[in-house]
Amino acid sequence: MGEGRIDLSRARVLVTGGAGFIGSNFVHHLLGRFPDAHVVVLDALTYAGRRENLDGIPAGSLTFVHGDIRDPAAVARAMAGCDLVLNFAAESHVDRSIEAPGEFIQTDIYGVFVLAEEARRQKIRRFIQVSTDEVYGEVLEGAAGESWPLEPRSPYAASKAGGERLAYAYWATWGLPIVVTRCSNNYGPRQYPEKLVPLFITNAIEDEPLPVYGTGLNRRDWIHVEDHCEALVALLQHPGIEGETVNIGAGNELDVLAITGAILDLLGKPKTLIRHVEDRPGHDRRYALDTAKITRLTGWRPRTPFDRGIRDTVAWYRANETWWRPIKQGEFRAYYERTYGQRKVLKAVQA
Ligand code: NAD
Ligand code: DAU
Repeated sequence: MGEGRIDLSRARVLVTGGAGFIGSNFVHHLLGRFPDAHVVVLDALTYAGRRENLDGIPAGSLTFVHGDIRDPAAVARAMAGCDLVLNFAAESHVDRSIEAPGEFIQTDIYGVFVLAEEARRQKIRRFIQVSTDEVYGEVLEGAAGESWPLEPRSPYAASKAGGERLAYAYWATWGLPIVVTRCSNNYGPRQYPEKLVPLFITNAIEDEPLPVYGTGLNRRDWIHVEDHCEALVALLQHPGIEGETVNIGAGNELDVLAITGAILDLLGKPKTLIRHVEDRPGHDRRYALDTAKITRLTGWRPRTPFDRGIRDTVAWYRANETWWRPIKQGEFRAYYERTYGQRKVLKAVQA
């Protein structure tokens, strides 16, 4: 198991959560590079999953299974005949995990158990568990390497830490060929507008306020989703890394105010749209990753400078209003009211 470079040209790949933001970008990316590969998407189509995110994929290259990773029968059906598995399926938004943690524990931990059990039964060549840099908790100085202690601080981050360590345990105990990845904050097309970048772009287009939590000085490493997808393809192919955990990041450390300023400038909108509002409870101040390992192993490096990535992303939301406007009408409205409606405004930015 696991010897030699993995050939993706005719691989059958299970992508769970393939109708979400990163999962769908991954499906487009993979089939763009390996048109004779076949992708099976297993997705429960929660509020964050959009079938239309897979529009444009040739029908013969894709099998879509509408099902839940917590359901062993759906997982067995979707995984049958697959060589490779990437688990993107998750509850993924920190604010929702603060409001209602239960679904996070169910999907982000128990769902990994169901997938790993089925992968043990089948001859899966590699299983990538897509985790996150949030498992390290806030990194106030320096950059977290893969052996940095895990100190997750939100129910989302704790669930992801549980899920990835469970996946690792299947490698340590039964030799399941697991690779765990921990990526930083993604941005790009098809991101559900609850997350900072698409929320602020779409609010600014609509001349709605941009709710900056607290000071706006919280820092993240921002990676364009295409760079993340490229890193995952490199790791999917790379020989002999079963049981490894690998950071993926771009070294683009920016605070929320810098991101907000870039978006407003690109859209030609005024800073008076900014509202400093009551902070997120337990808001992590900084994430930062040491990414030497993935470069040493695979040669991968991020290729998208932030200026270009954010410009292209703003352009995508401008050109795809038919994608996000209906989303912002539905379940999103009630979520937005619950999350922001009662939030105290600390400061509005003057003209
Ligand atoms: P997303 O919320 O946009 O998409 C999640 C997808 O999973 C949706 O299609 C949803 O329908 C599906 N899903 C949810 N619960 C499911 C279940 N029980 N069964 C089957 N499908 C289910 O998330 P995203 O931002 O694309 O993130 C994808 C993965 O990458 C997640 O595991 C997340 O933790 C991880 N990650 C995200 C980022 C980021 O910046 N967005 C960074 C690092 C890691
Ligand atoms: O670091 C990787 C993680 O990045 C992923 O694992 C998560 O799935 C993803 O949601 C993301 O988590 P964050 O909490 O960093 O992302 P979010 O877009 O929610 O917030 C980014 C920063 O912006 C954070 O400091 C909080 C701030 N923010 C966010 C929102 C939604 C605001 O100031 N106002 C907002 O309305």
